[in-house]
Amino acid sequence: MSIWTVTNLKPGTAKTTSAVWLAHSLHERGHKVLLVGADPGGANLKLAPAFSDGMGSAERWNARAPMPFDVISLATRDLHRTLPRLAADYAYAVVDSPPIEDHQGIAVSALRAADVAVIPVAPTTVEVDRMAPVLHVVGEVNALRQADLAMCVLLNRCVANAASTGEAEDALTAQGYHVLQARIPRLELYAQSSGAPVLARGTAYDGATGEILEFEAKAA
Ligand SMILES: Nc1ncnc2c1ncn2[C@@H]1O[C@H](COP(=O)(O)OP(=O)(O)OP(=O)(O)O)[C@@H](O)[C@H]1O
Ligand SMILES: [Mg+2]
Repeated sequence: MSIWTVTNLKPGTAKTTSAVWLAHSLHERGHKVLLVGADPGGANLKLAPAFSDGMGSAERWNARAPMPFDVISLATRDLHRTLPRLAADYAYAVVDSPPIEDHQGIAVSALRAADVAVIPVAPTTVEVDRMAPVLHVVGEVNALRQADLAMCVLLNRCVANAASTGEAEDALTAQGYHVLQARIPRLELYAQSSGAPVLARGTAYDGATGEILEFEAKAA
């Protein structure tokens, strides 16, 4: 059993989209997958409490378009202790982490549990600059782990042929990150996929899955 935690510092960096598409790809490749929703949501909307519950979460996506594998909620700070037992019968557990800055306790627990951390990043100055604190957090997490965390960056929301993608790869590599060669393009296919059925075969996410599997095998 292997745990892939999809994480980043900030909200809105395509963590949920990536977790759901990667989970589908693993499932389509014949693996037994558990998708773990670990994001309790950000806004506690006192003025509109009906809207404060899990908007944009993997669980709500699954409620709208039932996924062909198991999906559970586990937004807890002791996920690193409970998930390995819950996921023991699966080949892969994919964790949709909350933004580290909003729910540090849960996000750190999801990194402690991980065999691989996948960090979706758009090739923009704002997102690339905010990757330095993530390295710092992972350094703290490594002190709590048996072995250092294997982590990789998945460049996503990339505009075709834009120089920004290569520049982001260079900047992130210089920061010390392993940047996957797979790139997820900025497309309506992904932007409109929340709450809809997913078929990952033949998409950039399936290429990313193959590359992460190889990365994990080499890191082990
Ligand atoms: N490849 C893509 N192309 C275009 N839009 C995308 C792509 N991936 C994600 N998006 C869009 O970006 C937005 C943020 O994605 P998502 O909800 O997956 O991020 P998140 O990191 O889980 O956010 P939060 O921290 O709020 O949970 C969504 O509107 C989503 O549809
Ligand atoms: Mg999310």
